[in-house]
Amino acid sequence: VAEQCLAIIIVGASGDLAKKKTYPSLLSLYAGNLLPTELVVFGYARSPLTNEQLRDQIRPYLAVKHVADSVVEDFLSLCFYKSGEGYGDVESWKELDAILANKQEGQQNRLFYFAIPPNVFAETGAAIKAACMASNGFSRMIVEKPFGRDLESCKEILEALSRHFDESNLYRIDHYLGKEMVQNLIVMRFGNIWMENMWNRNYVQCVVLTFKETFGTQGRGGYFDQYGIIRDIIQNHLLQVMCLLCMECPNKLMGLQAGEKVRNEKVRVLEAIPPVTLDELFLGQYEGYTDDETITNKSSNCPTFAIIRCFINNARWAGVPIIFKAGKALEEGKAEMRVQFKDAPAVETLFDGHKVPRNEIVMQLQPKETIYMKSNIKTPGFGTTPIQSELEVKYDTRYFSGAGGSNPDAYSRLILDVLHGRSASFVRSDELIRAWEIFTPVLHQIEKENIQPHKYMAGSRGPPGADAFFTEKSGYVRNDDYTYS
Ligand code: BG6
Repeated sequence: VAEQCLAIIIVGASGDLAKKKTYPSLLSLYAGNLLPTELVVFGYARSPLTNEQLRDQIRPYLAVKHVADSVVEDFLSLCFYKSGEGYGDVESWKELDAILANKQEGQQNRLFYFAIPPNVFAETGAAIKAACMASNGFSRMIVEKPFGRDLESCKEILEALSRHFDESNLYRIDHYLGKEMVQNLIVMRFGNIWMENMWNRNYVQCVVLTFKETFGTQGRGGYFDQYGIIRDIIQNHLLQVMCLLCMECPNKLMGLQAGEKVRNEKVRVLEAIPPVTLDELFLGQYEGYTDDETITNKSSNCPTFAIIRCFINNARWAGVPIIFKAGKALEEGKAEMRVQFKDAPAVETLFDGHKVPRNEIVMQLQPKETIYMKSNIKTPGFGTTPIQSELEVKYDTRYFSGAGGSNPDAYSRLILDVLHGRSASFVRSDELIRAWEIFTPVLHQIEKENIQPHKYMAGSRGPPGADAFFTEKSGYVRNDDYTYS
Protein backbone atom coordinates (compact mmCIF):
# COMPACT_ATOMS: atom_id res chain seq x y z
CA VAL A 1 0.00 0.00 0.00
CA ALA A 2 3.03 2.15 0.73
CA GLU A 3 3.34 4.57 -2.20
CA GLN A 4 -0.37 5.35 -2.49
CA CYS A 5 -2.19 8.05 -0.62
CA LEU A 6 -4.81 6.68 1.67
CA ALA A 7 -7.76 8.54 3.14
CA ILE A 8 -9.59 6.87 5.99
CA ILE A 9 -12.98 8.40 6.60
CA ILE A 10 -14.58 7.60 9.93
CA VAL A 11 -18.28 8.22 9.62
CA GLY A 12 -19.72 8.89 13.06
CA ALA A 13 -16.38 10.11 14.38
CA SER A 14 -17.75 11.49 17.62
CA GLY A 15 -19.49 8.25 18.61
CA ASP A 16 -18.40 5.57 21.05
CA LEU A 17 -17.23 2.98 18.55
CA ALA A 18 -15.01 5.49 16.75
CA LYS A 19 -13.43 6.81 19.92
CA LYS A 20 -13.01 3.53 21.75
CA LYS A 21 -12.09 1.22 18.89
CA THR A 22 -11.49 2.81 15.49
CA TYR A 23 -9.10 5.62 16.33
CA PRO A 24 -7.03 3.61 18.85
CA SER A 25 -6.67 0.74 16.35
CA LEU A 26 -5.57 3.14 13.64
CA LEU A 27 -3.01 4.58 16.04
CA SER A 28 -1.63 1.06 16.65
CA LEU A 29 -1.25 0.51 12.93
CA TYR A 30 0.31 3.93 12.50
CA ALA A 31 2.76 3.36 15.35
CA GLY A 32 3.71 0.00 13.85
CA ASN A 33 4.38 1.65 10.46
CA LEU A 34 1.65 -0.44 8.93
CA LEU A 35 -0.22 2.41 7.27
CA PRO A 36 0.91 4.19 4.10
CA THR A 37 3.12 7.19 4.79
CA GLU A 38 0.78 9.31 2.70
CA LEU A 39 -2.24 9.29 4.98
CA VAL A 40 -5.17 11.43 6.09
CA VAL A 41 -7.83 10.39 8.57
CA PHE A 42 -11.06 12.32 8.27
CA GLY A 43 -13.79 12.21 10.87
CA TYR A 44 -17.26 12.92 9.55
CA ALA A 45 -20.27 13.57 11.77
CA ARG A 46 -22.99 16.09 12.38
CA SER A 47 -21.61 17.95 15.42
CA PRO A 48 -19.79 21.16 14.51
CA LEU A 49 -16.20 20.55 15.64
CA THR A 50 -12.88 22.01 14.63
CA ASN A 51 -9.94 19.73 13.88
CA GLU A 52 -8.47 20.66 17.26
CA GLN A 53 -11.69 19.86 19.08
CA LEU A 54 -11.84 16.44 17.43
CA ARG A 55 -8.22 15.76 18.40
CA ASP A 56 -8.95 16.76 21.99
CA GLN A 57 -11.91 14.40 22.04
CA ILE A 58 -9.99 11.38 20.86
CA ARG A 59 -6.64 12.01 22.57
CA PRO A 60 -7.70 10.42 25.93
CA TYR A 61 -8.72 7.21 24.14
CA LEU A 62 -5.34 6.93 22.48
CA ALA A 63 -3.49 6.82 25.78
CA VAL A 64 -4.47 3.15 26.25
CA LYS A 65 -2.16 2.06 23.46
CA HIS A 66 1.16 2.72 25.25
CA VAL A 67 2.49 4.63 22.28
CA ALA A 68 5.00 7.47 22.84
CA ASP A 69 3.33 10.89 23.15
CA SER A 70 5.22 12.26 20.18
CA VAL A 71 3.90 9.46 17.95
CA VAL A 72 0.36 10.08 19.21
CA GLU A 73 0.73 13.74 18.29
CA ASP A 74 2.12 12.87 14.86
CA PHE A 75 -0.87 10.64 14.31
CA LEU A 76 -3.28 13.32 15.51
CA SER A 77 -1.76 15.83 13.12
CA LEU A 78 -3.07 13.59 10.32
CA CYS A 79 -6.58 13.56 11.80
CA PHE A 80 -9.06 16.10 10.47
CA TYR A 81 -12.74 16.72 10.83
CA LYS A 82 -15.60 17.56 8.49
CA SER A 83 -19.06 18.20 9.82
CA GLY A 84 -22.01 17.48 7.59
CA GLU A 85 -25.68 18.39 7.55
CA GLY A 86 -26.51 14.74 7.92
CA TYR A 87 -25.14 11.33 7.01
CA GLY A 88 -27.10 11.32 3.80
CA ASP A 89 -26.44 14.91 2.80
CA VAL A 90 -24.89 14.75 -0.66
CA GLU A 91 -23.69 18.36 -0.58
CA SER A 92 -21.64 17.77 2.56
CA TRP A 93 -20.06 14.68 1.03
CA LYS A 94 -19.25 16.67 -2.10
CA GLU A 95 -17.43 19.17 0.06
CA LEU A 96 -15.47 16.39 1.72
CA ASP A 97 -14.69 14.93 -1.69
CA ALA A 98 -13.20 18.25 -2.77
CA ILE A 99 -11.10 18.50 0.39
CA LEU A 100 -9.87 14.93 -0.05
CA ALA A 101 -9.07 15.44 -3.72
CA ASN A 102 -6.91 18.33 -2.65
CA LYS A 103 -5.03 16.31 -0.06
CA GLN A 104 -4.73 13.10 -2.03
CA GLU A 105 -2.49 13.03 -5.02
CA GLY A 106 -1.89 10.11 -7.30
CA GLN A 107 -3.83 7.02 -6.41
CA GLN A 108 -6.62 8.00 -4.08
CA ASN A 109 -7.60 4.99 -2.05
CA ARG A 110 -10.46 5.60 0.32
CA LEU A 111 -11.55 3.54 3.27
CA PHE A 112 -14.91 4.46 4.79
CA TYR A 113 -15.51 3.19 8.31
CA PHE A 114 -19.21 3.23 9.17
CA ALA A 115 -19.13 3.83 12.92
CA ILE A 116 -22.83 4.64 12.81
CA PRO A 117 -26.08 2.77 13.57
CA PRO A 118 -27.39 0.56 10.76
CA ASN A 119 -30.54 2.65 10.35
CA VAL A 120 -28.41 5.31 8.64
CA PHE A 121 -26.30 2.89 6.56
CA ALA A 122 -28.59 3.28 3.54
CA GLU A 123 -28.60 7.08 3.30
CA THR A 124 -24.88 7.27 4.08
CA GLY A 125 -24.03 4.70 1.44
CA ALA A 126 -26.15 6.48 -1.14
CA ALA A 127 -24.54 9.85 -0.47
CA ILE A 128 -20.98 8.47 -0.51
CA LYS A 129 -21.73 6.69 -3.76
CA ALA A 130 -23.11 9.88 -5.27
CA ALA A 131 -20.42 12.26 -4.13
CA CYS A 132 -17.32 10.86 -2.49
CA MET A 133 -15.99 7.76 -4.23
CA ALA A 134 -12.30 7.59 -5.08
CA SER A 135 -11.87 8.52 -8.72
CA ASN A 136 -8.58 6.70 -9.03
CA GLY A 137 -8.16 3.93 -6.49
CA PHE A 138 -10.28 1.73 -4.26
CA SER A 139 -13.28 2.72 -2.15
CA ARG A 140 -13.90 0.14 0.56
CA MET A 141 -16.58 0.21 3.24
CA ILE A 142 -16.29 -1.26 6.73
CA VAL A 143 -19.61 -1.87 8.47
CA GLU A 144 -20.42 -3.46 11.78
CA LYS A 145 -23.31 -5.17 13.53
CA PRO A 146 -26.11 -5.12 14.46
CA PHE A 147 -27.05 -6.34 10.99
CA GLY A 148 -30.72 -6.39 11.81
CA ARG A 149 -32.75 -8.16 14.48
CA ASP A 150 -33.89 -11.03 12.31
CA LEU A 151 -33.78 -12.40 8.79
CA GLU A 152 -36.08 -9.76 7.28
CA SER A 153 -34.41 -6.72 8.82
CA CYS A 154 -30.99 -8.14 7.95
CA LYS A 155 -32.01 -8.49 4.31
CA GLU A 156 -33.11 -4.84 4.27
CA ILE A 157 -29.72 -3.70 5.54
CA LEU A 158 -27.88 -5.93 3.09
CA GLU A 159 -30.00 -4.65 0.25
CA ALA A 160 -29.52 -1.00 1.22
CA LEU A 161 -25.76 -1.28 0.86
CA SER A 162 -25.60 -3.68 -2.06
CA ARG A 163 -27.56 -1.15 -4.11
CA HIS A 164 -24.48 1.09 -4.05
CA PHE A 165 -21.48 -1.14 -3.47
CA ASP A 166 -20.20 -4.39 -4.83
CA GLU A 167 -19.89 -7.21 -2.26
CA SER A 168 -16.13 -7.22 -2.83
CA ASN A 169 -15.89 -3.70 -1.42
CA LEU A 170 -18.04 -4.37 1.63
CA TYR A 171 -16.24 -5.57 4.72
CA ARG A 172 -18.61 -6.67 7.50
CA ILE A 173 -16.67 -6.77 10.73
CA ASP A 174 -17.18 -9.38 13.37
CA HIS A 175 -14.35 -8.49 15.67
CA TYR A 176 -14.11 -12.05 17.01
CA LEU A 177 -12.65 -13.00 13.63
CA GLY A 178 -9.76 -10.65 14.36
CA LYS A 179 -8.75 -12.29 17.63
CA GLU A 180 -5.44 -14.15 17.74
CA MET A 181 -6.86 -17.48 18.79
CA VAL A 182 -9.60 -17.41 16.17
CA GLN A 183 -7.18 -16.54 13.38
CA ASN A 184 -4.98 -19.31 14.70
CA LEU A 185 -7.66 -21.92 14.00
CA ILE A 186 -6.78 -22.12 10.33
CA VAL A 187 -3.23 -23.17 11.15
CA MET A 188 -4.08 -25.33 14.15
CA ARG A 189 -6.69 -27.31 12.31
CA PHE A 190 -5.16 -27.75 8.91
CA GLY A 191 -1.47 -27.56 9.72
CA ASN A 192 -1.42 -30.42 12.24
CA ILE A 193 -1.93 -33.94 11.02
CA TRP A 194 -2.93 -35.31 14.42
CA MET A 195 -5.54 -32.66 14.92
CA GLU A 196 -7.37 -32.88 11.63
CA ASN A 197 -7.63 -36.66 11.85
CA MET A 198 -9.39 -36.59 15.19
CA TRP A 199 -11.67 -33.73 14.28
CA ASN A 200 -14.87 -35.62 13.59
CA ARG A 201 -17.79 -37.60 14.99
CA ASN A 202 -15.69 -40.72 15.52
CA TYR A 203 -13.62 -39.05 18.22
CA VAL A 204 -15.38 -35.90 19.38
CA GLN A 205 -17.98 -36.05 22.14
CA CYS A 206 -19.00 -32.39 21.97
CA VAL A 207 -17.92 -28.92 20.89
CA VAL A 208 -18.52 -26.06 23.32
CA LEU A 209 -18.19 -22.34 22.56
CA THR A 210 -18.29 -20.16 25.64
CA PHE A 211 -18.51 -16.43 26.22
CA LYS A 212 -18.72 -15.03 29.75
CA GLU A 213 -18.59 -11.47 30.97
CA THR A 214 -18.52 -10.22 34.56
CA PHE A 215 -20.48 -7.06 33.84
CA GLY A 216 -24.07 -6.45 32.78
CA THR A 217 -25.55 -3.86 30.43
CA GLN A 218 -23.73 -0.88 31.99
CA GLY A 219 -25.72 1.87 30.34
CA ARG A 220 -26.02 -0.01 27.02
CA GLY A 221 -29.45 -1.29 28.02
CA GLY A 222 -31.20 0.75 25.34
CA TYR A 223 -29.40 -1.29 22.72
CA PHE A 224 -29.11 -4.58 24.56
CA ASP A 225 -32.76 -4.86 25.54
CA GLN A 226 -33.73 -4.81 21.86
CA TYR A 227 -31.29 -7.58 21.03
CA GLY A 228 -30.47 -9.90 23.94
CA ILE A 229 -27.58 -12.29 24.33
CA ILE A 230 -28.45 -14.56 21.40
CA ARG A 231 -28.33 -11.72 18.89
CA ASP A 232 -25.53 -9.87 20.67
CA ILE A 233 -23.07 -12.75 21.01
CA ILE A 234 -24.24 -16.15 19.80
CA GLN A 235 -25.71 -15.47 16.35
CA ASN A 236 -22.55 -13.62 15.34
CA HIS A 237 -19.38 -14.00 17.45
CA LEU A 238 -19.76 -17.59 18.65
CA LEU A 239 -21.33 -18.81 15.43
CA GLN A 240 -18.48 -17.34 13.40
CA VAL A 241 -15.91 -19.02 15.61
CA MET A 242 -17.82 -22.30 15.32
CA CYS A 243 -17.70 -22.07 11.53
CA LEU A 244 -13.91 -21.93 11.51
CA LEU A 245 -13.71 -24.68 14.08
CA CYS A 246 -15.99 -27.04 12.17
CA MET A 247 -15.73 -26.21 8.45
CA GLU A 248 -14.15 -28.50 5.88
CA CYS A 249 -10.70 -27.60 4.61
CA PRO A 250 -10.89 -24.94 1.87
CA ASN A 251 -8.53 -25.30 -1.08
CA LYS A 252 -6.74 -22.15 -0.07
CA LEU A 253 -6.13 -20.95 3.48
CA MET A 254 -4.01 -17.88 2.88
CA GLY A 255 -3.55 -15.21 0.26
CA LEU A 256 -6.17 -13.25 -1.61
CA GLN A 257 -7.92 -16.32 -3.02
CA ALA A 258 -8.64 -17.59 0.48
CA GLY A 259 -11.32 -14.92 0.92
CA GLU A 260 -13.99 -16.64 -1.15
CA LYS A 261 -12.81 -20.19 -0.51
CA VAL A 262 -12.83 -19.94 3.28
CA ARG A 263 -16.21 -18.26 3.26
CA ASN A 264 -17.68 -20.86 0.91
CA GLU A 265 -16.79 -23.51 3.49
CA LYS A 266 -18.25 -21.46 6.34
CA VAL A 267 -21.52 -21.19 4.45
CA ARG A 268 -21.56 -24.94 3.86
CA VAL A 269 -21.32 -25.61 7.59
CA LEU A 270 -24.11 -23.17 8.30
CA GLU A 271 -26.28 -24.77 5.65
CA ALA A 272 -25.95 -28.10 7.45
CA ILE A 273 -27.39 -26.68 10.69
CA PRO A 274 -31.17 -26.76 10.98
CA PRO A 275 -32.94 -23.85 12.71
CA VAL A 276 -32.68 -23.95 16.50
CA THR A 277 -35.78 -25.09 18.37
CA LEU A 278 -37.08 -24.03 21.78
CA ASP A 279 -36.30 -27.34 23.48
CA GLU A 280 -32.63 -26.89 22.60
CA LEU A 281 -32.35 -23.66 24.47
CA PHE A 282 -32.02 -22.50 28.08
CA LEU A 283 -32.42 -18.80 28.87
CA GLY A 284 -31.46 -16.70 31.85
CA GLN A 285 -31.62 -13.11 33.04
CA TYR A 286 -29.66 -11.74 35.97
CA GLU A 287 -31.50 -10.28 38.95
CA GLY A 288 -31.63 -6.51 38.74
CA TYR A 289 -31.27 -6.41 34.93
CA THR A 290 -34.18 -4.01 34.52
CA ASP A 291 -32.84 -1.68 37.25
CA ASP A 292 -30.54 -0.24 34.58
CA GLU A 293 -32.18 3.08 33.79
CA THR A 294 -31.46 2.71 30.08
CA ILE A 295 -33.92 -0.21 30.04
CA THR A 296 -37.42 1.19 29.77
CA ASN A 297 -39.39 -2.04 29.62
CA LYS A 298 -39.33 -3.02 33.29
CA SER A 299 -40.93 -6.39 32.61
CA SER A 300 -38.49 -7.22 29.83
CA ASN A 301 -37.88 -10.93 29.24
CA CYS A 302 -34.67 -10.20 27.35
CA PRO A 303 -32.14 -12.99 27.94
CA THR A 304 -28.71 -12.09 29.29
CA PHE A 305 -27.70 -15.75 29.44
CA ALA A 306 -28.30 -18.59 27.00
CA ILE A 307 -27.22 -22.13 26.31
CA ILE A 308 -28.12 -23.43 22.87
CA ARG A 309 -27.50 -26.82 21.32
CA CYS A 310 -27.41 -27.46 17.62
CA PHE A 311 -26.19 -30.17 15.29
CA ILE A 312 -24.29 -30.04 12.05
CA ASN A 313 -25.90 -32.60 9.80
CA ASN A 314 -22.98 -33.51 7.62
CA ALA A 315 -20.64 -36.47 7.29
CA ARG A 316 -18.06 -35.10 9.69
CA TRP A 317 -20.27 -33.92 12.54
CA ALA A 318 -23.63 -35.71 12.50
CA GLY A 319 -24.78 -36.42 16.05
CA VAL A 320 -22.10 -34.33 17.78
CA PRO A 321 -23.64 -31.73 20.10
CA ILE A 322 -22.47 -28.20 19.32
CA ILE A 323 -23.12 -26.07 22.38
CA PHE A 324 -23.15 -22.28 22.56
CA LYS A 325 -23.00 -20.79 26.02
CA ALA A 326 -23.01 -17.04 26.62
CA GLY A 327 -23.82 -14.81 29.53
CA LYS A 328 -23.39 -11.40 31.07
CA ALA A 329 -22.92 -10.60 34.77
CA LEU A 330 -21.34 -13.98 35.51
CA GLU A 331 -18.65 -15.04 37.96
CA GLU A 332 -15.77 -14.69 35.49
CA GLY A 333 -14.90 -13.18 32.13
CA LYS A 334 -13.62 -15.52 29.44
CA ALA A 335 -14.16 -16.78 25.93
CA GLU A 336 -13.05 -20.20 24.78
CA MET A 337 -13.54 -23.07 22.38
CA ARG A 338 -13.56 -26.49 23.97
CA VAL A 339 -13.65 -29.87 22.33
CA GLN A 340 -14.13 -32.93 24.49
CA PHE A 341 -13.16 -36.29 23.01
CA LYS A 342 -14.76 -39.64 23.68
CA ASP A 343 -13.43 -42.14 26.21
CA ALA A 344 -10.21 -43.92 25.35
CA PRO A 345 -10.96 -47.63 24.66
CA ALA A 346 -10.96 -50.34 27.34
CA VAL A 347 -9.38 -48.10 29.97
CA GLU A 348 -11.28 -49.71 32.83
CA THR A 349 -9.68 -53.07 32.10
CA LEU A 350 -6.30 -51.82 31.02
CA PHE A 351 -5.80 -49.56 34.01
CA ASP A 352 -7.27 -51.94 36.51
CA GLY A 353 -10.37 -49.89 37.23
CA HIS A 354 -8.56 -46.56 37.61
CA LYS A 355 -10.26 -43.51 36.19
CA VAL A 356 -8.88 -42.24 32.88
CA PRO A 357 -10.53 -38.91 32.14
CA ARG A 358 -11.43 -37.79 28.64
CA ASN A 359 -9.08 -35.73 26.53
CA GLU A 360 -10.00 -32.17 25.76
CA ILE A 361 -8.51 -29.38 23.76
CA VAL A 362 -9.27 -25.90 24.99
CA MET A 363 -8.40 -22.79 23.04
CA GLN A 364 -8.89 -19.76 25.21
CA LEU A 365 -9.44 -16.49 23.35
CA GLN A 366 -9.44 -14.32 26.45
CA PRO A 367 -8.53 -13.11 28.99
CA LYS A 368 -5.27 -14.86 28.06
CA GLU A 369 -4.57 -16.60 24.80
CA THR A 370 -3.81 -20.15 25.77
CA ILE A 371 -4.13 -23.58 24.21
CA TYR A 372 -4.19 -26.57 26.49
CA MET A 373 -4.83 -30.20 25.85
CA LYS A 374 -6.09 -32.13 28.79
CA SER A 375 -4.02 -35.28 28.58
CA ASN A 376 -3.46 -38.21 30.93
CA ILE A 377 -0.05 -38.89 32.38
CA LYS A 378 1.25 -41.20 35.08
CA THR A 379 1.06 -39.72 38.55
CA PRO A 380 4.55 -38.25 38.80
CA GLY A 381 7.00 -39.83 41.21
CA PHE A 382 6.31 -43.19 42.84
CA GLY A 383 2.69 -43.08 41.70
CA THR A 384 1.71 -45.34 38.83
CA THR A 385 -1.93 -44.51 38.13
CA PRO A 386 -3.18 -42.06 35.46
CA ILE A 387 -3.95 -38.44 36.33
CA GLN A 388 -5.15 -35.68 34.11
CA SER A 389 -2.63 -32.98 33.24
CA GLU A 390 -2.15 -30.70 30.25
CA LEU A 391 0.07 -29.94 27.28
CA GLU A 392 -0.09 -26.25 26.72
CA VAL A 393 1.04 -23.04 25.06
CA LYS A 394 0.63 -19.84 27.03
CA TYR A 395 0.93 -16.95 24.61
CA ASP A 396 1.73 -14.24 27.13
CA THR A 397 4.94 -15.86 28.33
CA ARG A 398 5.81 -17.68 25.11
CA TYR A 399 5.18 -14.92 22.55
CA PHE A 400 3.97 -11.64 23.91
CA SER A 401 6.26 -10.96 26.81
CA GLY A 402 8.97 -8.33 27.07
CA ALA A 403 10.29 -6.65 23.99
CA GLY A 404 8.92 -9.46 21.84
CA GLY A 405 5.88 -7.32 21.20
CA SER A 406 2.31 -7.22 22.29
CA ASN A 407 -0.70 -8.88 20.80
CA PRO A 408 -2.38 -6.58 18.26
CA ASP A 409 -6.04 -5.94 18.92
CA ALA A 410 -8.71 -7.47 16.73
CA TYR A 411 -9.74 -4.20 15.05
CA SER A 412 -6.17 -3.34 14.02
CA ARG A 413 -5.75 -6.72 12.35
CA LEU A 414 -9.06 -6.43 10.55
CA ILE A 415 -8.51 -2.87 9.33
CA LEU A 416 -5.15 -3.96 7.98
CA ASP A 417 -6.85 -6.83 6.16
CA VAL A 418 -9.22 -4.36 4.50
CA LEU A 419 -6.34 -2.22 3.32
CA HIS A 420 -4.78 -5.27 1.73
CA GLY A 421 -8.07 -6.46 0.25
CA ARG A 422 -8.06 -9.65 2.32
CA SER A 423 -11.65 -10.65 2.88
CA ALA A 424 -11.44 -14.06 4.58
CA SER A 425 -12.05 -12.63 8.07
CA PHE A 426 -15.18 -10.69 7.10
CA VAL A 427 -18.73 -11.92 7.00
CA ARG A 428 -20.15 -12.42 3.52
CA SER A 429 -23.82 -11.64 2.91
CA ASP A 430 -24.83 -15.27 2.35
CA GLU A 431 -23.20 -16.27 5.65
CA LEU A 432 -25.16 -13.61 7.43
CA ILE A 433 -28.43 -14.66 5.86
CA ARG A 434 -27.89 -18.29 6.80
CA ALA A 435 -26.91 -17.28 10.35
CA TRP A 436 -30.21 -15.47 10.69
CA GLU A 437 -32.14 -18.37 9.19
CA ILE A 438 -30.82 -20.57 11.97
CA PHE A 439 -31.88 -18.27 14.80
CA THR A 440 -34.82 -16.20 13.57
CA PRO A 441 -37.66 -18.73 14.10
CA VAL A 442 -36.80 -19.38 17.73
CA LEU A 443 -36.13 -15.70 18.45
CA HIS A 444 -39.58 -14.87 17.14
CA GLN A 445 -41.12 -17.65 19.16
CA ILE A 446 -39.47 -16.43 22.38
CA GLU A 447 -40.93 -12.98 21.80
CA LYS A 448 -44.35 -14.12 20.68
CA GLU A 449 -44.84 -16.58 23.50
CA ASN A 450 -43.14 -14.29 26.01
CA ILE A 451 -40.88 -17.11 27.20
CA GLN A 452 -39.52 -16.20 30.61
CA PRO A 453 -35.79 -16.56 31.30
CA HIS A 454 -34.55 -18.25 34.50
CA LYS A 455 -33.31 -15.70 36.99
CA TYR A 456 -29.76 -15.81 38.32
CA MET A 457 -27.70 -13.82 40.75
CA ALA A 458 -25.28 -11.37 39.17
CA GLY A 459 -21.78 -12.72 39.75
CA SER A 460 -22.88 -16.36 39.79
CA ARG A 461 -22.32 -19.21 37.29
CA GLY A 462 -25.76 -18.60 35.81
CA PRO A 463 -29.27 -19.83 36.63
CA PRO A 464 -29.82 -22.95 38.72
CA GLY A 465 -30.45 -25.75 36.29
CA ALA A 466 -28.13 -24.38 33.61
CA ASP A 467 -25.31 -26.80 34.40
CA ALA A 468 -27.68 -29.77 34.40
CA PHE A 469 -29.13 -28.65 31.04
CA PHE A 470 -25.63 -28.31 29.63
CA THR A 471 -24.57 -31.78 30.81
CA GLU A 472 -27.70 -33.42 29.52
CA LYS A 473 -27.47 -31.79 26.10
CA SER A 474 -23.73 -32.18 25.59
CA GLY A 475 -22.82 -35.50 27.14
CA TYR A 476 -19.81 -33.68 28.55
CA VAL A 477 -18.14 -35.52 31.45
CA ARG A 478 -16.57 -33.29 34.07
CA ASN A 479 -13.51 -34.46 35.95
CA ASP A 480 -13.84 -32.89 39.38
CA ASP A 481 -10.30 -33.92 40.30
CA TYR A 482 -8.81 -31.61 37.69
CA THR A 483 -8.39 -27.87 37.92
CA TYR A 484 -6.60 -25.88 35.26
CA SER A 485 -4.46 -23.06 36.55
C1 BG6 B 1 -19.84 -6.88 21.41
C2 BG6 B 1 -21.11 -6.98 22.20
O1 BG6 B 1 -20.06 -7.24 20.09
O2 BG6 B 1 -18.87 -7.75 21.97
C3 BG6 B 1 -20.87 -6.66 23.66
O3 BG6 B 1 -22.07 -6.09 21.67
C4 BG6 B 1 -19.74 -7.50 24.22
O4 BG6 B 1 -22.05 -6.86 24.42
C5 BG6 B 1 -18.53 -7.44 23.30
O5 BG6 B 1 -19.42 -6.98 25.50
C6 BG6 B 1 -17.48 -8.43 23.76
O6 BG6 B 1 -16.29 -8.24 23.02
P1 BG6 B 1 -14.90 -8.64 23.65
O7 BG6 B 1 -13.93 -8.46 22.54
O8 BG6 B 1 -14.67 -7.74 24.81
O9 BG6 B 1 -15.03 -10.07 24.09
